[in-house]
Order: sequence, then structure tokens, then C-alpha cells
Amino acid sequence: MARVNSSGWQPAAEGVDPRRVPQRLLFTGMSMPAIGLGTFGSDSVSGEAVAAAVGGAAAVGYRHFDCAAVYGNEHLIGPVLQQVMAGGVRREELWITSKLWNDRHAEAEVIPAFLQSLRALQMEYLDLYLVHWPFPNHHAPGVDVSSRDLHARPYSHLRFMQTWRQLEKLVDQGLVRHIGTSNMTIPKLELLLQEARIQPAANEMELHPHFQQPELFDYVRRHGIEPIGYSPIGSPARPDRDRTPEDSVDIEDPVVVEIARRHGVHPAVICVKWAVQRGQTPIPFSTNRRNYLANLQAVLSDPLSAAEMQAIAALDRNCRLIKGQVFLWKAGQDWRDLWDEAGVIVQS
Ligand SMILES: NC(=O)c1ccc[n+]([C@@H]2O[C@H](COP(=O)([O-])OP(=O)(O)OC[C@H]3O[C@@H](n4cnc5c(N)ncnc54)[C@H](OP(=O)(O)O)[C@@H]3O)[C@@H](O)[C@H]2O)c1
Repeated sequence: MARVNSSGWQPAAEGVDPRRVPQRLLFTGMSMPAIGLGTFGSDSVSGEAVAAAVGGAAAVGYRHFDCAAVYGNEHLIGPVLQQVMAGGVRREELWITSKLWNDRHAEAEVIPAFLQSLRALQMEYLDLYLVHWPFPNHHAPGVDVSSRDLHARPYSHLRFMQTWRQLEKLVDQGLVRHIGTSNMTIPKLELLLQEARIQPAANEMELHPHFQQPELFDYVRRHGIEPIGYSPIGSPARPDRDRTPEDSVDIEDPVVVEIARRHGVHPAVICVKWAVQRGQTPIPFSTNRRNYLANLQAVLSDPLSAAEMQAIAALDRNCRLIKGQVFLWKAGQDWRDLWDEAGVIVQS
């Protein structure tokens, strides 16, 4: 039966019991729900609509929310999270992530940037705080892929560690339970793991059937770092600036479509099932109640067979969608330089 409360928010009768949602055990001994709701409106969905989806998703059983300062909507999500807690969900049941944007990597900026997110989200602590991108290069929201920061610089481990030390302080101060990375590569993580006093608990990385990143996926898991998979459905509504002609569409892949037909669900739901069963934590975005409910239900029932998991494993095309061109630091450079594809950090 729905709990009665004065906040206007209440659990939905047809939702799922959050205690049934699989959890990922982190190196700290704490656990994180193995599926979360993404909150990046891709420049096309308003902050208000995203915040409403956070409330709706919590009502159907989501407890994990993937936020970021750059999404520009944390101040709208904060009041909704307050309503959710006033409606009876305890803070410890929630998993709230936020991320440090690229224009705040400087030593003196990290803690103030974190505090801004913390206040906007109306929280006393966060569960996870990530460095959103390893490059300090700033670009204005919504700019074209050809846009370049005049002060853009290549990756510097020294500078990254200065940022990381500030994140470690946030853990020491009890303001965040875990810290982590996003859009990292093996050579960059290798250096971080050598010097980190507090190791990353998670690495957020693009993961979907056409982009499985098997080497990085195995690497982070071997090092006790949870892979959080972004764009798990292949980001069909991503901004035009993040599209190139060679991109493929996961939810139109005939193998995914056929498996979806067999299970009687949308191909997007198959991408979510595959992600959780493979061992990553997907954070699908949706403001459509039917879709975010279907994504959550996907992880609780009707699992993919071993043969279906193998069929999807065979679909990997190394098709990176979020290439990061705006972080490039010199003219005529290839976006692959950002991803250290030869196994060494590209610095010139
Ligand atoms: N760390 C990073 O650098 C980074 C980068 C990109 C994204 N992210 C995070 O990852 C989250 C997810 O990635 P994303 O937003 O790029 O893409 P995504 O989750 O792969 O795709 C979202 C799209 O899929 C549709 N969808 C969701 N569930 C569906 C279902 N069951 N049936 C049919 N359509 C469905 C949604 O439409 P409807 O709204 O109509 O359902 C939406 O258009 C972001 O919101 C953000 O939190 C992080």
C-alpha cells in the first residue's frame, strides 16, 4: 500500500520493490544499485522534465541517480529528492552521484564546485563524486564539435593528481562516500592507481552493445573499480554535435531487435538487461514513465539466456558515440588521441 505523506510524492503501486534491485558491492563494503537513472537532458529535454522524471523514477523504485553540474538541472533535482525523502525514503537508501566539470579542475576550485552541487542537490553528502572528463579544457555548453578552447591543453597526470587530492579531501571531510573517474583510459588509470591515497570506486564509461570496451571493462573490474555504463541504449536522442555518419544504432541492430521480439519488449530494454547481466551498472536516461519503468523491471525478470548474451557480445563494433572532439588541443587532431588507443597517453 502507498505510504501516506505530506510531500506530494508517494511510491507507485505498480513500481518495483527497490530491495529486489541487484546491488554492486564496492571496495568500501557499501553497495550501489546496479541500475540508475541518467539525468542529462541532451539539450532537448528541460530541467523541469528531468527533475519530474527523477521523482517519477523514485516512485517506481529507482534509488540511483546520475547527476552532474554541467547538466544544469541539479537545483531542480534537489527539491524533488527532498520530496522523495519526505515521502519516506531514507537518505541511506539513495545513491546520488555528481561530477566535477572541466572548468573547475584547479586546486582552489574543486571543493567550491562540489559544494555547489551538494547544495543544489540539497544533500548533506554525496555517494559518488566523479571527475567528469580528465581534460581541464573548457567549452561552452551546446557548442559545435569543431569548437576549441583557446587555452586547451593535453592531459597532464600532475594536474589530474592535484584535482584528485581535493576529491580525497572531500572523502576525509565526510562530504562524499566514494570518488571516481569518467572517460578515463587504462594508461591514465594506471598512473592514478599508483598514486591515489583513496582509489576510484567507479569509472563512468560509454558502454552499449556496439561499444563494449572489453579491455577497459576487464581492467577496471580487476582493480575493484565499478564500471558505470553511460549511453547504455546508444543515446538515440543525443545532440547533433555528437553524431557522425559512421555511428551505428544499437536499438536497430537486427540481433537486438530479434531478441527484443522474443522477449516482447523494446530493443532498449534488451540493452539494459544485457548491461546488468554483463556486470556493468547502466544509467539509462528517460523522462517517459513507461520506458523508465520498463528499464527497471528489465533487471528483475526474464533474463537473457547464455546464447543471447553471447550473441550480443558478438555485436561489438568499437563504435564510440561520445568522441569528445571539443577536448582536442590542437588543429587537425584526431579525436582518437583523447582515448590513448595505442596504450600510451597522447600528450603532444
Ligand atoms: N560521464 C559522461 O561523460 C556521460 C556522457 C553521456 C551520458 N552520461 C550519463 O548517462 C546517461 C544516459 O546516457 P544518454 O542519455 O546519452 O543515453 P541513453 O540512456 O543510451 O538513451 C536515452 C534515450 O533512450 C530512450 N529510452 C530510454 N529507455 C527506453 C525504452 N525502454 N524504450 C525506448 N526508448 C527508451 C530515451 O527516450 P525517452 O525519454 O523517450 O524514454 C532517450 O531518448 C545520461 O543521461 C547521463 O546521466 C554520462
